[in-house]
Amino acid sequence: MADCTKKVIYPGTFDPITNGHLDIIQRASKLFDHIIIAIAESIKKAPLFSLKDRIAMTQLAIDDLNLDTPVDIEGFDNLLVDFARSKNAFVVIRGLRAISDFEYELQMGYTNSSLEPRIETVHLMSNLSHAFISSTVVRTILMHNGDISHLVSPGVNQYIIEHSCI
Ligand code: COA
Repeated sequence: MADCTKKVIYPGTFDPITNGHLDIIQRASKLFDHIIIAIAESIKKAPLFSLKDRIAMTQLAIDDLNLDTPVDIEGFDNLLVDFARSKNAFVVIRGLRAISDFEYELQMGYTNSSLEPRIETVHLMSNLSHAFISSTVVRTILMHNGDISHLVSPGVNQYIIEHSCI
């Protein structure tokens, strides 16, 4: 029998996952039956946190959200379209914070659909109160021993404190 659940993939580097990402996930949970958070190895971006740490922090952040919608968290190091095929999930969700995100998102969306025509990319506008948040902002504050507790979930904040990840 065909799988009729509305599955969505939310891909990113999540270095680390922020309240901005969580806002997108929370809103996606109202639109889809099943969310797969795909955490890219992103070697080219030289992430501050290992893939293992990013997966662990994302799991804690999702636990804090207490969603009714099932959420899977997986790492990947291949093309997003190949990951999507392996999951039989062809809708990708991305957040749009500002005009500056648009060009990059457009290029990524076109690239993915040129590689796999079944892929549809859905963009959700970030909540205005989260529009300034980026993982770079969080990493910069961390590197100067600043407080990030208003930018990430309590579980992520605690994980970073306990694991002295930086
Ligand atoms: N709230 C807060 N921050 C947000 C956000 C939101 N709603 N949406 C995006 N961001 C920020 C992130 O914090 C991140 O900040 P940073 O660059 O300062 O660290 C930045 O926007 C983009 O990061 P992210 O959303 O994690 O995505 P990405 O651009 O790192 O990830 C992949 C891109 C992984 C999805 C893409 O590279 C990919 O698919 N890679 C696999 C290889 C592939 O298939 N390539 C071909 C497709 S082009």
